[in-house]
Amino acid sequence: MQYTAVMPIDVVAEVIDNHPLSTDYNVLRLSAPAIAAAAAPGQFVMIKAGAGFDPLLRRPFSVFEVLRDPGGAPLGISLLNKRIGASTGLIYGARPGQTVACLGPLGRPFTPVAPPDEGWMVAGGVGLAPFAALAGALRARRVSTTLFYGARSAAELFYLDFFRDLGVELVLTTEDGSAGERGRVVAPLERRLAARAPDAGVTIYACGPEGMLAATARAAARFDRPCEVSVERIMGCGMGGCYSCVVPMKDATGAVHHVRSCLAGPVLQAHDIVWD
Ligand SMILES: Cc1cc2nc3c(=O)[nH]c(=O)nc-3n(C[C@H](O)[C@H](O)[C@H](O)COP(=O)(O)OP(=O)(O)OC[C@H]3O[C@@H](n4cnc5c(N)ncnc54)[C@H](O)[C@@H]3O)c2cc1C
Ligand code: FES
Repeated sequence: MQYTAVMPIDVVAEVIDNHPLSTDYNVLRLSAPAIAAAAAPGQFVMIKAGAGFDPLLRRPFSVFEVLRDPGGAPLGISLLNKRIGASTGLIYGARPGQTVACLGPLGRPFTPVAPPDEGWMVAGGVGLAPFAALAGALRARRVSTTLFYGARSAAELFYLDFFRDLGVELVLTTEDGSAGERGRVVAPLERRLAARAPDAGVTIYACGPEGMLAATARAAARFDRPCEVSVERIMGCGMGGCYSCVVPMKDATGAVHHVRSCLAGPVLQAHDIVWD
């Protein structure tokens, strides 16, 4: 398996600022111009947030935004972080001027479509992370874009104005019904797919919990639409060395192989994944 972009770069990145979005979510902006210049939508970085041995290993994070100066030169990247454990807790509490080790960009990115095809992004929770960059890339290609975005409640739907400003149509769902439609995000996706003429091109991109990815893949298959999913396996190294991140996938003959999602993914063809 070859890297699809330039070789990854390992930098000590300074925290530019840290914006809390809720008690669990924040956006951390990092100074990392070389990584920013090379990153493509859907790629990730491996972050070591603490200085000591706990946590010992780096953790994977999608590149959320590529930060640029007023002239357009790449300055760094941001991370959309959800606090669930040791590293994400440190990232939640990081302060400007602190540094984190940052290796990237890593993995295979999304494949942006071109008009007249539309790009439909499906995000669950922190699965929103790769879609800020993808939405920007689709807008640059003048692709008509929709974001199906589901969260537990209205308080966990973030960056809505950011996507609106990019011209992205938003279809929102919440589990408690506090914003958008009550229920799972795949329900409005299926309705829209059913209403769409078969010859009107739509490519689906998804990131979120595995159950949501599997349901999205099933819906895309039922309506015969291409679908790329960004899988979130536990990753020990991010570079192919530890096999902690394998995903079962069918090859052209239908035989099942386990691929390392840090190299073959994290963006994979949904129809080739064995979901069960
Ligand atoms: C390619 C990729 C991109 C990612 N992008 C983002 C992102 O942009 N923002 C973000 O907040 N998170 C992202 N994640 C998930 C993030 O890497 C994990 O939340 C993080 O590794 C947890 O580290 P921790 O030290 O805080 O938690 P730990 O203390 O290591 O773990 C806490 C608990 O969470 C479980 N856990 C850890 N990692 C995962 C995982 N990947 N999936 C399910 N359960 C897990 C552990 O088993 C444990 O029960 C991404 C993961 C991958 C693979
Ligand atoms: S994370 Fe180590 S092989 Fe994929």
